[in-house]
Amino acid sequence: MYRSHTCGELRASHIGQKVTLAGWVQRSRELGGMTFLDLRDRYGITQVAFNEEWDANLLQEARKLGREWVVQIKGEVIERHSKNTAMPTGVVEIKSSHLTVLNAANTPPFTIEEESDGGEELRMKYRYLDLRRAPLQRNLALRNRLNIEVRKYLDKDGFMDIETPFLIKSTPEGARDFIVPSRMQEGKFYALPQSPQTFKQLLMVSGYDKYYQITRCFRDEDLRADRQPEFTQIDCEMAFVEQEDILNTFEGLLVHLLKEVKGVHIDSVPRITYSESMERFGNDKPDIRFGMELANLNSLTQNHGFNVFDQAETVLGIAVPGASSWSRKQIDKITDWIKRPDIGMKGMVYCKVNEDGTYKSSVDKFFTQEQQAKWAKASEATQGDLILILAGEERLTRKAASELRLYIAEKLGLRNPETFAPLWVVDFPLLEWDHESERFHAMHHPFTSPKLEDISLLEKNPVKVRANAYDLVLNGNEIGGGSIRIHDRALQSRMFDLLGFSKKEAERQFGFLMNAFEYGAPPHGGLAFGFDRLVAIIGGAEVIRDFIAFPKNNSGRDVMIDAPATIDEIQLHELKLKSTAKPNE
Ligand code: AMO
Repeated sequence: MYRSHTCGELRASHIGQKVTLAGWVQRSRELGGMTFLDLRDRYGITQVAFNEEWDANLLQEARKLGREWVVQIKGEVIERHSKNTAMPTGVVEIKSSHLTVLNAANTPPFTIEEESDGGEELRMKYRYLDLRRAPLQRNLALRNRLNIEVRKYLDKDGFMDIETPFLIKSTPEGARDFIVPSRMQEGKFYALPQSPQTFKQLLMVSGYDKYYQITRCFRDEDLRADRQPEFTQIDCEMAFVEQEDILNTFEGLLVHLLKEVKGVHIDSVPRITYSESMERFGNDKPDIRFGMELANLNSLTQNHGFNVFDQAETVLGIAVPGASSWSRKQIDKITDWIKRPDIGMKGMVYCKVNEDGTYKSSVDKFFTQEQQAKWAKASEATQGDLILILAGEERLTRKAASELRLYIAEKLGLRNPETFAPLWVVDFPLLEWDHESERFHAMHHPFTSPKLEDISLLEKNPVKVRANAYDLVLNGNEIGGGSIRIHDRALQSRMFDLLGFSKKEAERQFGFLMNAFEYGAPPHGGLAFGFDRLVAIIGGAEVIRDFIAFPKNNSGRDVMIDAPATIDEIQLHELKLKSTAKPNE
């Protein structure tokens, strides 16, 4: 028996018991004729004491131990003299009688404690050591708990977990595919799934009317804090359902998870349309933990002789609560921020709604007090607030105002990670125009059904067509998205036409799905949660990396195993990826 208890288990009630513990030496302290070790495993830390008076040889052995050595300790649980109430095991310690070194260790390249002194890159290289740290262990434990609760909820509702293949061909989700060359079929390639989309739809045709899978997806796209090239989805699909059924089922899942795992009760998940979201928040994943909504000030600001407003397509105001006392310097800092190339505005106008009911703006010479009072009313600013105003081209200004709203909220501490504010954004446009390729792209994916009442617009005014598509948003992050699907060959084929696929190309890539639609495809729809994002947000973070055991770094590399890497000449030849001809031949 390696251990009788874990390092997180012993309490006052164990005093007097003989125990065996095993774990890693986190640190050791020498104190006169005594040595104290902090022995750690994933359950906690227990103090182990060695005393010259108990056993002088054993004390000498203990003093030879280094950080992260793996040891087994036998001894008696005794009451500690100086108790540590911050530690669950802090009232006891082990009076050691035996010490066995199970394995020595090199000095770790960084400290393995709650806070580490190691830089990001170094910790990624030694990820297995970083994973020993309590914050990462808590994150992975949270991930495990959520995984189990997802399964419990879906299982209870009759969902079946069905695996789908990884070696497939392209599933368009808007990113590039990761490609796997085939050895047996020369010159042919598999693609790793960007999602199991087409397979889950085929499972609906096969009659598995409630499917789910917690599965890996692969997307070759630019990485960000909330994106990894391989990530995990809770992927779901249902047959014989309408959008309403899907929204209810999956908001139920989110409510269940928040209740079971965080003890947070959510009464209802609000729903707003895409266009309302863009209007009120300037983006399609609004953070609704705070107000500061965008106010359209066009009619209240234009034609008063101020050129910037007069020439602008859009003038938007945001009321910052309690900020009328901000200094010129503080406001200038925000103006500088808004001028950053990634935000791209030329400037910002401000209007203070003073405590005494007067107004003070940077454009006082163009606007009277009464006119400024109207801005305050439109942006719901009250005395003591500050209105920040952006003007310019519609798309850019709205986006900048949305970023500004988040930036200010962050500054004011309004984005509390312990508050959870989910919402559905529904009625997304079916298509978006891509200026680069000069053609339409499916905003969600090509299998999404248009709203039946908008189908007549498909030919005349495709940008106006709304989709039966929805996103689930939590604290300003898209944590899931889905749609009701097309289940009719003719409509699917028309959709591919609109997206610029030739008939031949559509048939080559998606003939299997369109054929399946001719063999009794039920109406169906579904959604996928981004599991890593969900775990991170519930864990109070927005960077997903530390909620994944072995993530890639920002350039898509695994610096620990050094991947991607070159492969052997022999492999290249076997795969016919290398010309057999010698240079200059
Ligand atoms: P979508 O592409 O919206 O939909 O993906 C679903 C959810 O997956 C998460 N996500 C990611 N998480 C981490 N890293 C990434 N690179 C990444 N990309 C996406 C997001 C997103 O909301 N097949 C459809 C779902 C459906 O229609 O049923 C799909 O994949 O949280």
